[in-house]
Amino acid sequence: MSNNVVYLDRNENNYGPAPACFEVLKKADLTKLSWYDRSFTTGSKGILSARLAHDFGLAEDRIILGYGAEHLLKQTIQCYLQKNQKLMIPAYSWWYYKKIAAEVGGISIEYPMIKAEKSFLYDVPGMKEMYRRERPAIVFISSPNNPTGNALGLTDLKDVLTEFKDAVVVMDEAYAYHGKIDYINDLVESHPRLMVARTFSKYYALAGMRIGFAVVGKEMAELGKFANRYLGYHRLSEEIAIAALDATTYYQGIARTMWEDKEEYYEKIGRIPGCTVFRSEANFILVEIPAKHKEGLQAALKQKGLIVKFMEEPLLNSHIRITIGTREQNKMVINAITSYFT
Ligand SMILES: Cc1ncc(COP(=O)(O)O)c(C=O)c1O
Repeated sequence: MSNNVVYLDRNENNYGPAPACFEVLKKADLTKLSWYDRSFTTGSKGILSARLAHDFGLAEDRIILGYGAEHLLKQTIQCYLQKNQKLMIPAYSWWYYKKIAAEVGGISIEYPMIKAEKSFLYDVPGMKEMYRRERPAIVFISSPNNPTGNALGLTDLKDVLTEFKDAVVVMDEAYAYHGKIDYINDLVESHPRLMVARTFSKYYALAGMRIGFAVVGKEMAELGKFANRYLGYHRLSEEIAIAALDATTYYQGIARTMWEDKEEYYEKIGRIPGCTVFRSEANFILVEIPAKHKEGLQAALKQKGLIVKFMEEPLLNSHIRITIGTREQNKMVINAITSYFT
């Protein structure tokens, strides 16, 4: 195996955070490491939740911070899912959803997703039908969804939210790769039991910092009480996150480059006989390959130091999920896959 391993298996952002984030570290007031945050003396939870509240046009109690979106999803389950109650999740989804439901004795039920020719699609009537039949306590929607890459459009989202009004609805937007936030205020104002989860791990390239946030509707105060940290969060992480929020040009540039590189994938891998590249709104793509080539391709990529995710799930066992890396890394993967198949 090559000495320079390229990890494209966990949907991290290989471009790294904006230079302004490193500047915060260089100039950090290190005494902050010894002292708890004292924002509470001003009536605020902390500088990051205050900043996010301002950006989303909401009161600060409608923003909840967590150690990544992972932490927020788990706390939502712990707060609202009782033993034997149902959690409704997409048929193809992040394995972690089932794990956190099982931890509290909850039951995961999977709603259908349509596998179209070149993309996966949310099946809105199928979701509504299952909701009416099963009456779950919580519904998870993942947009864009991991690992299929498709998103649920705003009109469809509003449609299902109207149907799901008795449930807690979690919109997992960990992979929101457009930088947009303007629609969220209206959504959480109209749907009091909605929680929209976002993270600094993907778009902002700060996975190692472990910070995410949720924007919640008015009736999610219980989650706020459960999840809020009396003694605050990591103070330097909050400053770095704010520097990332301010570096819009840097992150928009990366998202644009990734968008162009995905086009290369659709075009170059999509034309290999037997391979399908599904359209993705996230920083990864899902590729279906002929099942008989799974082991061979895995070995060929590994030999070149390229680590991508070979899926094992029953519905996706001849699929690979490839994180969109830097332009150079993407070229390496595209070349390695095309030369394996030719
Ligand atoms: C769909 C989805 N949601 C949430 C997360 C959690 O991200 P983090 O805890 O780093 O914010 C991940 C991580 O890969 C994910 O795939």
